[in-house]
Amino acid sequence: MQLSARLLILAILLVALLSRTASHDNDDRPSPPCSPVDRAALLGFKAGVAVDTTGILATWAGDDCCGAWEGVSCGATSGRVVALQLEAPPPRERHYMEGALSPSLGGLEFLETLVIRDMGRIGGAIPESLSRLTRLRQLYLEGNMLAGAVPGSLGKMSSLQYLSLAGNRLEGQLPTDLGAAFGLEQINVARNRLAGAVPPSYKNLSRLAYLDLSNNLFSGAIPGFLGQLKNLALLDLSNNSFSGEIPASLCALRSLTDLSLSHNKLGGRIPPQMGSLRSLNSLAIDDNMLVGSIPASLFLGLRKLWYLNMSRNGFSGSLPTGIRNGLPSLESMDLSHNHLTGGIDEFLRSLSIVVSNKNISTGTLRVLLPQRLEHLDLSKNRITGALPDLAGGGLKWLDVSNNAIGGQIPSSVSKLSDLERLDISRNQVRGVIPASMAGMVRLEWLDLSRNALVGRIPDQFTRLTSMRHANFRGNKLCGKIPQARPFNLFRAAAYAHNLCLCGKPLPPCRII
Ligand SMILES: *[C@@H]1O[C@H](CO)[C@@H](O)[C@H](O)[C@H]1NC(C)=O
Ligand SMILES: *[C@@H]1O[C@H](CO)[C@@H](O)[C@H](O)[C@H]1NC(C)=O
Ligand SMILES: *[C@@H]1O[C@H](CO)[C@@H](O)[C@H](O)[C@H]1NC(C)=O
Ligand SMILES: *[C@@H]1O[C@H](CO)[C@@H](O)[C@H](O)[C@H]1NC(C)=O
Repeated sequence: MQLSARLLILAILLVALLSRTASHDNDDRPSPPCSPVDRAALLGFKAGVAVDTTGILATWAGDDCCGAWEGVSCGATSGRVVALQLEAPPPRERHYMEGALSPSLGGLEFLETLVIRDMGRIGGAIPESLSRLTRLRQLYLEGNMLAGAVPGSLGKMSSLQYLSLAGNRLEGQLPTDLGAAFGLEQINVARNRLAGAVPPSYKNLSRLAYLDLSNNLFSGAIPGFLGQLKNLALLDLSNNSFSGEIPASLCALRSLTDLSLSHNKLGGRIPPQMGSLRSLNSLAIDDNMLVGSIPASLFLGLRKLWYLNMSRNGFSGSLPTGIRNGLPSLESMDLSHNHLTGGIDEFLRSLSIVVSNKNISTGTLRVLLPQRLEHLDLSKNRITGALPDLAGGGLKWLDVSNNAIGGQIPSSVSKLSDLERLDISRNQVRGVIPASMAGMVRLEWLDLSRNALVGRIPDQFTRLTSMRHANFRGNKLCGKIPQARPFNLFRAAAYAHNLCLCGKPLPPCRII
């Protein structure tokens, strides 16, 4: 902060302080005198912090801990500290506290809220003495450098509802005793080094709505009893080493809105009852070893689902058809990196509203992709068929690369006017590049490489001024590359291995 800004803030504080002292006698609700017991406990915390670049603890001077100390709040009449909320303002490189959590915090016996967040360099263990805080409802110690185990004594905090220890360096197993804190509604221990299994005693945590164990080293099977925690809305077990199958019992969680099991070692098939997770907004099971087919019935009940990621598994069999508008809220679907087969045309039809072509004489049908669908990734499978005639949709990202798709690029692809990224590379697409694609002015990324395209790159492509990446490599294209930015500036490799492309960045065309 600038010196002048600091001085200004100091001046404002001073004025506030003076006016406060002056009006003290007439004030309706003067801040109560600070309890000496609580003041001593706070000073104990301050003493444990060797460096404070946030400026917060500099305000902790004098006797008035209820009025003047930043982050400290007291009961209206009691003078007892009920909340201690310390958060480092951004940027995190510059604002931090360095030191340890003093056990003296356990002396703040009226405390209901304790937040020490994003202090970056607060290390050491979580003091056992915190278990004396029997009135504590919220304990947030996220974004520090706390190490050692999660103390089992936290289970004695009978009022505890919200617990977050995310983003520290905690290790060891989750304590069994925490299963005795029946009031817990939220547990977040993401981004630590915790290992082992989820203790069976946690099945007693019937109020639990939010359980985030992501980015740790947990292993073993996903416990079936999680399916008994009827209030669970968020379950994030991603990026651990959970193995075995997805327990079918999870499908009983009717309040579940977010389920992430990504980046684990889960095998077996998807439980067929998964379609009964009616409240689901987001389902991520990518990067596991799941096998079997993806039945369309799975999707018929997921009417609120907007995010679906099944990428990087061993799913096989045909792409689901018969979805029939079963996913009306879908915004993002990623089925890439599997062994899925089946026709792209049937699949897109099944996902879409099918409209008849205005041109009755040809009798063809066009597919209108769901308006909310922005991201569709089917890359790296064994999908066949041809892209169907399209009538539009709000798609921004379409990746069907690395499949066995044939046919031609339908000129109606230009109806996808919001498209920013189109990847058809590594397929068997024939025919010419439709000139209509020059109307896709939002296109930033176009990869048509390694197909069997013939003819020219349409001159009208010079209208595609947003284009940042294009690749035409490995086709049978011929003729002059559009001689305008950015097409004449892309690397030569983007045009290599064609029949007879010429002009910048390749050598000039021969005049015949
Ligand atoms: C809590 O869970 C444990 C272990 O599953 C069980 O033995 C105990 O009876 C449960 N306690 C309550 C109060 O339900
Ligand atoms: C998985 O967790 C580890 C440890 O927290 C982290 O370093 C890594 O970036 C995470 N990986 C992913 C893909 O999120
Ligand atoms: C789906 O998961 C994969 C792998 O875990 C990831 O790379 C990809 O970005 C995810 N897709 C979407 C649309 O978020
Ligand atoms: C309608 O179909 C006929 C016959 O295939 C074709 O010649 C004509 O160009 C089409 N018109 C439109 C508007 O697509």
